[in-house]
Amino acid sequence: MKTFTDTLSDFCRKAFADCGYDENLGTVTESDRPDICEFQCNGAMKGAKLYKLPPFKIASAVVEKLKDRKEFEKVEMAMPGFINLTVSASFLASYVNETHTNPELGMPKILEGKKVLIDYGGPNVAKALHIGHLRSAIIGESIKRIAAAAGAEAIGDAHLGDWGLQMGLVIMELKERHPEWRCFSEDFDPEKDEIPQISIEELNEVYPHASAKSKVDPDFSAAAHEATVLLQTGHPGYRALARTFTEVSKADIRNIYARLHVDFEYWFGESDAGEYVPELLSLLTEKGLLEDSDGAKVVQVSKDDDTAPMPPVIIKKSDGSNIYATTDLATMVQRKKLFDPDYIWYVVDKRQGLHFEQIFRCQELAGILSQGSRCEHLGFGTMNGPDGKPFKTRDGGVMQLTDLLNTAYEKALSSLDPAKFENENARRRTADKLSVASVKFADLINNRSKDYIFDFDRFLSCEGKTGAYLLYTVTRITSLLARSAEPAPDTLDSNCPLTGAERELLLSVAGVADFFVKAVTERAPNYIAEAAYKIASAFSTFYHDDRILTEEDEKKRKNRLALCALTKEKMLFLTDLLAIETVDVM
Ligand code: ARG
Repeated sequence: MKTFTDTLSDFCRKAFADCGYDENLGTVTESDRPDICEFQCNGAMKGAKLYKLPPFKIASAVVEKLKDRKEFEKVEMAMPGFINLTVSASFLASYVNETHTNPELGMPKILEGKKVLIDYGGPNVAKALHIGHLRSAIIGESIKRIAAAAGAEAIGDAHLGDWGLQMGLVIMELKERHPEWRCFSEDFDPEKDEIPQISIEELNEVYPHASAKSKVDPDFSAAAHEATVLLQTGHPGYRALARTFTEVSKADIRNIYARLHVDFEYWFGESDAGEYVPELLSLLTEKGLLEDSDGAKVVQVSKDDDTAPMPPVIIKKSDGSNIYATTDLATMVQRKKLFDPDYIWYVVDKRQGLHFEQIFRCQELAGILSQGSRCEHLGFGTMNGPDGKPFKTRDGGVMQLTDLLNTAYEKALSSLDPAKFENENARRRTADKLSVASVKFADLINNRSKDYIFDFDRFLSCEGKTGAYLLYTVTRITSLLARSAEPAPDTLDSNCPLTGAERELLLSVAGVADFFVKAVTERAPNYIAEAAYKIASAFSTFYHDDRILTEEDEKKRKNRLALCALTKEKMLFLTDLLAIETVDVM
């Protein structure tokens, strides 16, 4: 189905064509001046240059053609040649009814037939999840749902960090603590020898300890580097040990992500790319791209018109170890083989921009993916504390994700009145959803590339652009529909006149697909968050201004009930795209 502005554009395009002008001039957008009109078309200004005519001449002719259409209540020309449009109540209602009966709720399937692999989350084994992983998970999950709603086959991969130096650090630390473990001995047999289980508590303590030690103890640091290379090149004991603690860590990460309603189709690790490194190397060699540089192997990716320095990509270091770029490129080989995606979207901190630019260039030179497949880095900004600096714990450390979620939960819990809940469990469940919704919405309402300030107290407020406000709106509608003595009709009565507040609400509901298209094309969930907020705020005004259950005129009352139900349907659709769960009472 077409978006609302696209549908209106069709009428305008036809009018331009009927007047003998290029129909492409008929694009309609939301008005910049909502005080004057709802929609506008500025095509006459462009047409003026094309046809060497004054814009008002073109606009007036087009207005004449549009004036009698029943879809518009008002069509006017404003100097120097704007076409101002106000839609008719009956057309607005019929359009919204159509979005209700449409199986996709009126969302255009602009990614139909496309396979999109979304690389998000990017948690690291044995290291605590921090707020950088929070943003990736929240934004990535939403982008994945948006892509799927646009018709794509959307595949999420957590791309677990299980191949870097942290692995060597953990291995060496465990070796010091448990030298008797069979995995450390020369004659380790992966078929027979068992690896002792490591608890998540121990694992969480081992990494920070080893990391701190490596900074002051050069021997330990060298040993950890060596262990990392050995792991990557297939040391059987280290492999077996790493597999064991990776599983423990993964289970823990899964739990935290589940709390955020984040789920991946695949949990491939960087290590799974290991087996594709030889293929990557032969591909790069075949294309004559691999160069020696002080014992390392590199690929030059700079271009003549680069304005900033573009260093070569290091594929193998002189000690033979793989680095981040090697892994990402080998992962492309793997993804091509397993999925052959049309797109790979990387939802990763924008500070990694150079890395992605380098590897994307390298992939283009080497042709790792199918012709026409595209990689995109969907970078995001930093989450800052109220002081405008990267968010920290009170003692200045990196805030861990679990702590952040627990703090949000406690604050949410204390904001909920026990009298409103059947029992304490119900109140706790609500606090959980409310806290997660608040944290997520606060992130998603900002364009992903921007930094933003994280402020618990503001996020939990039931006013303004907050997750709490969205949930609150949904509970209001739910309770209103439950209190109604009659069922809400499925669709609106297109002959029913509308109040100003009803009209605003309907416009916000009709406009969802326009926001959706922007969210898809810009890979930006903030448009979805914005659309949900717009509906919530229009609903508040409607709820405040118009009688609903107490309206005596049956026709109006029924129509308002239908409007409530349609509003709720759209709100649930949007919150689901944001991966935010709603509640019944608050
Ligand atoms: N594990 C990495 C980190 O914590 C993020 C991985 C992002 N994805 C990728 N394909 N490089 O920074």
